[in-house]
Amino acid sequence: MKVVTSAHELPSGCAFVPTMGALHAGHASLFTIAKKVHTNVVASIFVNPLQFEKQEDLDKYPRTPIEDIDLAANSGVTHLWLPHYSEIYPEGFSTIKAGPIANLYEGKSRPGHFDGVVTVVRRLFDLVKPNFAVFGEKDFQQLILIEEIAQGIEIVRAPIIREADGLAMSSRNVRLTPEGRSTAAVISRALSLAKSESELREMLSSEPQLTLDYADFIDEETFQPAQRDSTSVRAIVAGWINSVRLIDNMRMEARA
Ligand code: PAF
Repeated sequence: MKVVTSAHELPSGCAFVPTMGALHAGHASLFTIAKKVHTNVVASIFVNPLQFEKQEDLDKYPRTPIEDIDLAANSGVTHLWLPHYSEIYPEGFSTIKAGPIANLYEGKSRPGHFDGVVTVVRRLFDLVKPNFAVFGEKDFQQLILIEEIAQGIEIVRAPIIREADGLAMSSRNVRLTPEGRSTAAVISRALSLAKSESELREMLSSEPQLTLDYADFIDEETFQPAQRDSTSVRAIVAGWINSVRLIDNMRMEARA
C-alpha cells in the first residue's frame, strides 16, 4: 500500500472510500467491497471541519493514524491518501448545498451538517475522479444525499456491520462508558423486533440511559413518513447515550 499526501499521486481509475479515520471493521468491509469492483482501492482520511456543528465535537473526534495505516494496508487498500487541508479547501473554495432531504432527521438536529458532507465529498470526487465510491448504509441519509451529487460516479451501497450484540459499528462507540456500551445494544434490538413505529418508540423510551432524538418509519425513496403503500420502508433511529450521538437504521422488509 502506498501512503500519499497529494491527489496527484493517485491512480487514474479506482474504487474510492472516503473516511474520517479512526478505522474499524465497518471501514474494512467497505475496502473489501471496493476491492471487488476495482483493483485500485483508494481510501482517504480527512476529518472534515465543515461537517461538525461544534468545535468541541471536532476536537473530540477520535484520531488513530498508526492503527489506521495498519488496518487499511491489511484490508485491500492500495493507496491511502492523507490530504492537507489546503488541498481540499484551497483559498476561495466554494461550498455546495445538499438537497432538501438534508433538512430532515439528522439534518434537523445538526443544521449545516450535510452541506459540509456534500461539499467535502464533491471536492474529494473532483480530486480522485473515481469510477466507483463505496458508502455504508449506516449513514443512510448521507448516502442518499451523496447519490444525488454523484455525477456519473457509481455509488456502491455497503451493508451495516454490527458488533456481536447488534450495535452498529461507529468510530464514536469508543466514547461510550462500559455501561453505556452495553445499553447501546437496545437500538438494534428494538429495530429488529418492532413491528410498528409506536412499538419502536416504546422499546427505546423504556431505556433511561438513552435520550431519543427520533425513531421513525420512512419511505426510503422520499424520506417522508412511510405510507401503507410504501414499497421500501426503513426504520431510522437517533439518540444519545453518555452524550454520544448514535444512529442506526434497518430495512423493514429485510428483517428475519
Ligand atoms: O461518513 C463519513 O465518514 C464522512 O461523512 C465522509 C463521507 C468521509 C465525509 O467526510
